[in-house]
Amino acid sequence: MSHPYRSVLYLPGARERVLEKARTLPADALIFDLEDAVAPEDKLAARGLVCEMVQRGYGARKRLIRVNGLGTDWFEDDLAAAIAAEPDGILLPKVNGPKELQAIAPHLRGETRLWAMMETPLGILNAREIAASTPKLAGFVMGTNDLVKELFARHTPNRAPVMTALSLCLLAARAHGLVCVDGVYNAFKDEDGLRAECRQGLELGFDGKTLIHPAQIEVANEVFAPDEAELALARRYIEAFDKASGVAVVDGKIVENLHVENAVRLLKKADMIAKMNS
Ligand code: COA
Ligand code: MG
Repeated sequence: MSHPYRSVLYLPGARERVLEKARTLPADALIFDLEDAVAPEDKLAARGLVCEMVQRGYGARKRLIRVNGLGTDWFEDDLAAAIAAEPDGILLPKVNGPKELQAIAPHLRGETRLWAMMETPLGILNAREIAASTPKLAGFVMGTNDLVKELFARHTPNRAPVMTALSLCLLAARAHGLVCVDGVYNAFKDEDGLRAECRQGLELGFDGKTLIHPAQIEVANEVFAPDEAELALARRYIEAFDKASGVAVVDGKIVENLHVENAVRLLKKADMIAKMNS
């Protein structure tokens, strides 16, 4: 991974003002949505608008187009238009298995990669096969709202009802070197709630969080970035390990190769973020 995905903002594809505004927002990645954020009567207009805007560029922000799902009236034409627009990613909703991605992968153009929404019971059970489906796959995006609906579950603050699904997808993503981004926090005016859920996502291992409103960007960027204390400790680990042979000790705790690898990963992440901000 050579790009941060701390903040991944959904943009309703039919709202031109929102698509324009996204050029000024400090999100690491943008999801130009043709699916659930667009009403049926606006689908065609949104497809044209999104593909045009994506081609005009969004600076360092990664541009993902979320097409309508396989089996909908819009899928084929969305996919053809999205492929032609050559975004950084095409996000396929409600992925159930590897074949869906394998059918699309050979048709991608340029640098475009595939992304999978993980939000159906079958998709979650097949996470491992989906993660291994094609080298064109770049990452998973958790669709926690659909998942809660499909499970007949409830949204709870600790997210116990979806924890198994989140963990299975993280395991599969990490096993295959994919990016893994957490689901949205619906109450976009509740900053404390958002911060707590971002923190939980970070602790689980997610790269970042999908967002629905610009007011959520700053919190996600902050929580998913390594802070100064973490970076300082990472530098001390590397320094101590370089000087020692085998195992070093920092602040009374042992530092082994694995701690150093993690320290290097954090420093790389901080570098990616600094490049994104410059
Ligand atoms: N991305 C970029 N800009 C956004 C935005 C988004 N997702 N949501 C709102 N904005 C902009 C608005 O255009 C407005 O900008 P302006 O004042 O410069 O015109 C500003 O942010 C404030 O918006 P606000 O009035 O607070 O919100 P709203 O009523 O316009 O929209 C939602 C609220 C929830 C309908 C809207 O944020 C939204 O549609 N979010 C995405 C939903 C989505 O994609 N769902 C599918 C995936 S879960
Ligand atoms: Mg969904």
